[in-house]
This record gives sequence, structure tokens and C-alpha cells, in this order.
Amino acid sequence: NMKINLIDKNIEKNNTEIEIIFVKDIGNSEHKELLETLEFKAKDESCVLLAESKKIYVGYEEENYDSIAIASATAIKKLQTTKFANARIELNEVLENNFKALIEGAILGEYKFVNYKSEKDKKKIELQILVPNNNEKFEKILNESIIISKAVNKTRNMVNTPPADFYPEVMAKTAKKLARSADIEVKIEGEKYLKENGMNAMLSVGRASVHESQLIHLTYKPKNVQAKIVLVGKGLTYDSGGLSLKPADFMVTMKSDKSGGCAVMSTLWAIAKLELPFEVHGIVGAVENMIGGNAYKPDDVLKAKNGKTIEIRNTDAEGRLVLADCLCYAQDEIKDIDYIFDYATLTGACVVGVGEYTTGVMGNNEILKRNAVLSALKSGEYATTLDFNRFLKKSIKSEIADICNIANTRYGGAITAGMFLDNFISDENKEKWIHFDIAGPAFVEKPWGYNPHGASGAGVRMTIKFLQDLVDNN
Ligand code: BES
Ligand code: ZN
Ligand code: ZN
Repeated sequence: NMKINLIDKNIEKNNTEIEIIFVKDIGNSEHKELLETLEFKAKDESCVLLAESKKIYVGYEEENYDSIAIASATAIKKLQTTKFANARIELNEVLENNFKALIEGAILGEYKFVNYKSEKDKKKIELQILVPNNNEKFEKILNESIIISKAVNKTRNMVNTPPADFYPEVMAKTAKKLARSADIEVKIEGEKYLKENGMNAMLSVGRASVHESQLIHLTYKPKNVQAKIVLVGKGLTYDSGGLSLKPADFMVTMKSDKSGGCAVMSTLWAIAKLELPFEVHGIVGAVENMIGGNAYKPDDVLKAKNGKTIEIRNTDAEGRLVLADCLCYAQDEIKDIDYIFDYATLTGACVVGVGEYTTGVMGNNEILKRNAVLSALKSGEYATTLDFNRFLKKSIKSEIADICNIANTRYGGAITAGMFLDNFISDENKEKWIHFDIAGPAFVEKPWGYNPHGASGAGVRMTIKFLQDLVDNN
């Protein structure tokens, strides 16, 4: 939506209406006195518009991704409150070193979900960035960051769409559309396939919904393949809790329970657009968890695709059931996997444990988990590891089935959910698997930094960064 142009700062005088200036220290800014009178402090989200001298001053606290991206977003939002349609930014050393943050902060900060507003107060703005004359490096980062930010915004749009307009068939149709707009193949299976292929855990979760469950399988397969990656996403287009019904206040926002699946779909799109040298599969279980005479019940025992039986004690712990079958499907269909990652708004416990801005990273491979966290931090996302242990593992044992879908303890709910999933990872893939619990950051009901109210697109940037780092190291 926003246009961003790079212009050689040594060539012509540009014709922009206003200039955006990033300041950390007002001591040496041109408008020092004025800024001091306005009590401008170079802090996150501090911003003044000097209309007469046509300048937007925006503060930043540190020279890192977060601070620059937040400043960039803040300036764009200020610009949006004016009639000015274009602005220029002259790169200095700090902005050169944080160019990715500058671009992504602008595009992610400009995003607004207006599809359901009768008055869409969105105007087109144009950014001109004055770069040193050798701008190839910036051109490359610009193009990549535009793709990455677009993928994040696509995720946000899908997740924010209400459940009446985004149910499993719509999710499948959206996957087809995404595939068509990139070099991606897509396969969609319905409930008949789930039944015929023993995917009874996933099938049961969607049984009381009027909408048919959909298994979505996207494949990106370029010519030169360095590794095989599988991304699996929880796509609960609505989670009412099922018969273990959620209390009214907890049901609100549960349209966001498809965030993992939406992130997987958009990430595949971005990987194809970036032409990363990996075979990447995106597998999403699109299901609606509802109530009704046909609903699955606490006390039911379900058999997953790998033959394991699951005692249901709470129908609101449904995401792990959908993921169980999708993880089995992935490992049955795709051989010699290098990495298998799953993304899910899986537990409220993860939000309680690490806060609403941070993704919980789980798995059996310490180094892989570390690298995933590092990729997340470098990409602008927050993530931290949550460790499995043998004692919590005992808490999901069942008296009558192989495993229970909830733990017998109130504590460590994110970890016990992760260890539940581990039951559906085959021995050869144990060290290749990571589970990302994005229940916190995927959807936050207040703006944070460059993220607006609602969906943030969690998971997209960190995954792309992980894969980009994989290329660089080869
Ligand atoms: N989708 C929810 C988890 C969730 C909660 C996501 C809050 C985002 C915000 C999941 O299906 C769920 O309901 N989990 C239960 C598990 C419990 C029954 C063991 C939970 O977290 O309460
Ligand atoms: Zn649930
Ligand atoms: Zn859920």
C-alpha cells in the first residue's frame, strides 16, 4: 500500500513535502531549542510535528531493531494524521545499520484493519529514502523487507477476519489464492480424507461444526534445494471450547485461534517470493471447535493417525488434537525432513508464563531451540525456551488410553501441551522438531510498538529469518 523509493542523496533535490528526522540526542539537532521548549524527549513513541518547518521529529532509545522500527512506525502514524502525502528520510549511520527495521517498522506500523469499517480512513503515503550513492545493498534489503512485511500483514488480515467470514473452507480457498500468486502447489483434503486416513483426532474436533474441516497442504519446491522444511499450523477458525465451553469473556478473540495456520500460509508465500533454496511444506488443520448434539465429548477416546489413543478430558484442549494428526500426516507424507516446526495459539498458560508478547519455544534439541530463539530476536519477535522435564511428562498419562489431552496439574500448561505433541513426533524427527506456542503475541487487544490492536502476524518474521540464516551458513 505504502510506496517506498530509494533516491541517491547526492543527485537531485527531492520534492517531498516533509522530512522525518530520527533523534536519540536532541543536544545536536537543528531545532534543539524548540524541541526543548516542547519538552521533547528522545523516547519510544515520542514524536513532534513542526508544521511550519515541515519536520517530523521522532525519538528512539537504542540503536536496535525494536527502537528503530517503533520510531519508524510512530513517524508514519504521525504523518497519517496530516494532509502531507509524502515524506523523506535521510539515512545516517544508525539508520543505515538498522535499515531493515526502518522499512519493516514503516510498513507494519502503517497497517490498519479497516475491512469492516464503513469509512475507511486510509490514505496512500509515499516515503523517499535518501541513500548513499551505492545503494544496491539497500535495494536488496528493501525488496526483502517489503515481502516480509507484506506476509506479516497478510497474516494479520486473515486472523482479524471474523469467524463468520473465515471458516475452514474460506481458509482453504485463501490458501489456493496465495498459492496462485506465488510458485506454490496446493492440495486440499476434506473430512472424507480424514476419515479414510485415520485422522480421527482432528476429525472429532470439527464434528459439531456446520463447516467441513479442511486439511491444507502447500508445497514450495524450487530447483536447487538445500534442505527440506515442514511448517505445521493450528488453524482453529473458531474455538468456542466445545462442550467444555469457554466462559463468555474467554471466548472473545478466539477467531485468533487460526493464527498459527495463517502464519504458516503467509510464510510459505514469502519464502516463495524470496526464492529461498528450500523445499518447504505448509500443512494447516483448518477446523472449527463448536458445540452440538454431534460434538466430541469429555470421556471420548480418540485414535490419532499414528495409532495412539487419546483420552479426552477437556474439549477445549483441541489444538493439540488437530496438530497431532497434522504432524502425523506431515511425517507420513514427507520423508527425510530437515526441520519440522509447528505454530499454534496452544495454551493460555504460555501467556501467563511468559507474557503476551513472547513466543514459547519447545522441543528436544537444545541447539535448535537456541537458534530459533536467536532468529526470532534478530527478526524483531520475542521468544524464549520452555524446557520439558520427566516429571511434567507423567502428568499427561491416562489410566485408560495411551495419553490424556490435559494434564493432571494446573502448573506448566504450555510445557505439558508441548510434551503432548511430542507423542506424535516420530523417533527420526525428534531432534528436528520445534513447537512454537504463539498464544500470547499472535493477538493482543491493545497496540504494542508497531503492532496494532489485534493480530500481529507472530511467527512469520522469525521463521523467515531462521531460513535466511540457514542459507547464509551454507
Ligand atoms: N486456543 C486456546 C488457547 C488460548 C488461550 C489461545 C488464550 C490464546 C489465548 C486453547 O485451545 C485452549 O483453550 N487451551 C486450554 C487448554 C486447557 C484446557 C488444558 C487453555 O489454555 O486454557
Ligand atoms: Zn481450546
Ligand atoms: Zn484453541
